[in-house]
Amino acid sequence: MSLLWTREELEIATGGTFLGNTSVSVTGISIDTRTLAPGDLFIALKGDNSDGHTHIATALEKGAAAVLAHSAEGITDPRILLVPDTMRGLQKLAQAARARFKGKVVAITGSVGKTTTKEMLRLCLAPSGLTHAAEASYNNHWGVPLTLARLPREAAFCISEIGMNHPGEILPLAKMVQPDVAVITTIGSAHLGHMGSLDAIAEEKSSIITALPKGGIAIVPDDAHGRQFFTAAGKKTQAILWPCGANPQSTAHLAHLQTGSDGSRFDVSIQGKTFNVHLPAPGTHLARNAVAALAACAALGADVAKAAAALADFRPGKGRGALIQVAGGTITLLDESYNASAASIRAALDVLRHIPATRRIAVLGDMRELGEFSISEHQALAAPAASAADLVFCCGSYMKTLFDALPPSKQGAWAESAALLAPHVCAALRKGDAVLVKGSLGSRMRDIIAALNALPAVECA
Ligand SMILES: Nc1ncnc2c1ncn2[C@@H]1O[C@H](COP(=O)(O)OP(=O)(O)OP(=O)(O)O)[C@@H](O)[C@H]1O
Ligand SMILES: [Mg+2]
Repeated sequence: MSLLWTREELEIATGGTFLGNTSVSVTGISIDTRTLAPGDLFIALKGDNSDGHTHIATALEKGAAAVLAHSAEGITDPRILLVPDTMRGLQKLAQAARARFKGKVVAITGSVGKTTTKEMLRLCLAPSGLTHAAEASYNNHWGVPLTLARLPREAAFCISEIGMNHPGEILPLAKMVQPDVAVITTIGSAHLGHMGSLDAIAEEKSSIITALPKGGIAIVPDDAHGRQFFTAAGKKTQAILWPCGANPQSTAHLAHLQTGSDGSRFDVSIQGKTFNVHLPAPGTHLARNAVAALAACAALGADVAKAAAALADFRPGKGRGALIQVAGGTITLLDESYNASAASIRAALDVLRHIPATRRIAVLGDMRELGEFSISEHQALAAPAASAADLVFCCGSYMKTLFDALPPSKQGAWAESAALLAPHVCAALRKGDAVLVKGSLGSRMRDIIAALNALPAVECA
């Protein structure tokens, strides 16, 4: 494991002071003692519901190389690095990591597809050099600086994911990241409740472009709402826009797409060169993410041919579109339980439509954070759900409005919660069915996944 931070570097970067004179070699960064590895710097962050300062003793027992704290009452260990505020300390560490980094940095935002595109890009860049990327969906005020603070100095590439729930959140994070290349995956209605309009969402996402240097490349969706915001942001910093998608006029575009249960095969053309891709994950939406990832490789000067070949190793993340056989191989499950927005439900229904099956069943939980748009956004999905599925099961109060808008022949059952709906879904299943399970994280659709995973083989009707 390589050296991430020395004692002197930590003191200079954070402006803090160690309690004692011990030597310090940090090889990783932890904000959670449950996953802390020996050699980590433990950063005692204070959140709304928890305070890392209560876990300092555990961190030291588990072999933390150092602890960043703003209060160390009763603890005299020389490995404590005292700062006025640990969140600010983390941000300063991130800035120092970015300032010393000699490789290229790419930042990814978008309404959906950030983590999926980030994981594709991680695979794509690996053949061209050591690649560091954000863990999971670490894309907020602590996730973004944590990714930078963990950036190995010898890496060739750093991939940052930047998210937002409210206006004004992207720009400060993007400025911290200072990307060489920015990617906007999609503009959709996720977080519409806080943002107010699709225009506001497009404008907010576009602010990532204004963090690019002059001549930096922004990869933007070619079919997105609010394209004028990309253009305006590009003009501000003289960034170069690379439209990307399915339009043959776009700088990067896909063609000859064939998608089915075993994944997708397609060509990607980038600035006149064409690459064949096999992506072992179904859906046009994932193929489009792959185009953005390959465009980012080209923009970063990486080997795009090797990147395209590397996509053959891609697997969808947990709850993000994996096709699994359950019930002793009698049922095909499309596990989309991680999260849901209107765009990703439409995309998942489109995948369901193409799964070979006797019957197709959609199990949908509420989409959250849509505010005053909640009812209209849910109702608008009734038609695509009825068209893709033979039977639709719903849970949650907003999905009740979708359920009520379905033709009676398509209504499976509705229940208040996923746990209450699960027995209805299980009882309805027959051998040969394909089942899509999707809802916002807070809808706990994982309860339905657990019930399906526990099912014994089911019989024909
Ligand atoms: N381009 C896309 N269009 C529509 N849906 C997509 C797209 N890419 C991924 N999805 C779907 O959206 C859901 C979330 O995907 P992913 O985790 O990649 O998004 P994210 O932007 O990182 O989300 P979060 O904001 O929760 O971190 C998954 O169900 C995934 O299959
Ligand atoms: Mg994510």
